[in-house]
Amino acid sequence: MTAKISIIGAGMTGATLAHWLAEREIADLVLVDIVEGMPQGKALDLYEALPIINKDVSLVGSNDYAATKGSDIVVVTAGVPRKPGMSREDLLTTNANIVMTAVENSLLHSPDALFIILTNPLDTMAYLAMKAGKLPRERVVGQAGILDSARMRSFVALETGVSVENIQCYVLGGHGDEMVPLTRHSNVAGVPLRDFLPADKLEAIVNRTRKGGGEIVNLLKTSAYYAPSLAVAQMAEAILKDKHLIVAASAYMQGEYGLSDMFFGVPVQLGRGGLERIIEYDLDDEEKAAMQKSAAAVKESISILHTLVKI
Ligand code: NAI
Ligand code: 2OP
Repeated sequence: MTAKISIIGAGMTGATLAHWLAEREIADLVLVDIVEGMPQGKALDLYEALPIINKDVSLVGSNDYAATKGSDIVVVTAGVPRKPGMSREDLLTTNANIVMTAVENSLLHSPDALFIILTNPLDTMAYLAMKAGKLPRERVVGQAGILDSARMRSFVALETGVSVENIQCYVLGGHGDEMVPLTRHSNVAGVPLRDFLPADKLEAIVNRTRKGGGEIVNLLKTSAYYAPSLAVAQMAEAILKDKHLIVAASAYMQGEYGLSDMFFGVPVQLGRGGLERIIEYDLDDEEKAAMQKSAAAVKESISILHTLVKI
């Protein structure tokens, strides 16, 4: 394999991501974690599964960043997840130090790597990764929008009975309860969702999408991992295959949507160079207000970050 992806944090999302990526056979994989033996054991177990599906992927687990040398992409999932009753922001203090360490250590061995951040609070951790690594914005994206949009698509499919293939949803904004499901742009086979579903059903879907992460946390007592990690796999594949794929993801704002110096969920185009461009939708006043409300929540989180770490 010519490409290499390192996953920092071999817990639920990290290991599941390795699984999705190995099946795609697009890169050799390294799992890094602080727990001794765990990344090694998971990597070996997954490696031993691959002959069954005839996939040739090198899989290494390690507690040492040296194993990540020469990575094209580094995915950061290291950190603590939510427990019931916790918001993503409750994780800030603990995860800020973990993400900084992960980015700095990864760059020592892979100075040219692109970073995909998953650790929560997502937009703030992506911001931290870019600043701590002194990276250009092209090289850091955060995963949120593919997951939130997929959740909304699944809820629309449940409500309508229509194939998910026909359902397109766009969820922008910060990865928190103020995220912005765009019901005007979302559609079922081209018919705007607002015209396809009665207002009360649509409102219920919007609310369920916003609280989608919490719904899983309440059931599992930890956070989701199948859907979040598959979303990262889609981003990594788009980058390695230079697909120029447009998806919702968290990116560094430089005036887009009237926002600056923060990460925020927007439509981005991904290719071999990472973030290729940000697409600006034509939003109505209601949508703009929702984006501003969501941005205020992210800005608040970033201002707390600045009291915790020097970046
Ligand atoms: P997990 O607890 O299963 O795995 C996290 C792993 O990070 C653990 O194995 C832990 O040992 C490791 N770790 C901790 N400190 C480390 C360090 N300094 N270096 C390397 N590894 C370290 O948690 P899970 O479920 O995988 O979630 C990981 C993070 O991703 C959480 O912050 C969670 O909130 C976030 N998340 C974000 C999503 C998103 O859509 N952006 C979706 C799901 C989870
Ligand atoms: C999620 O949305 C916890 O951010 C994670 O599932």
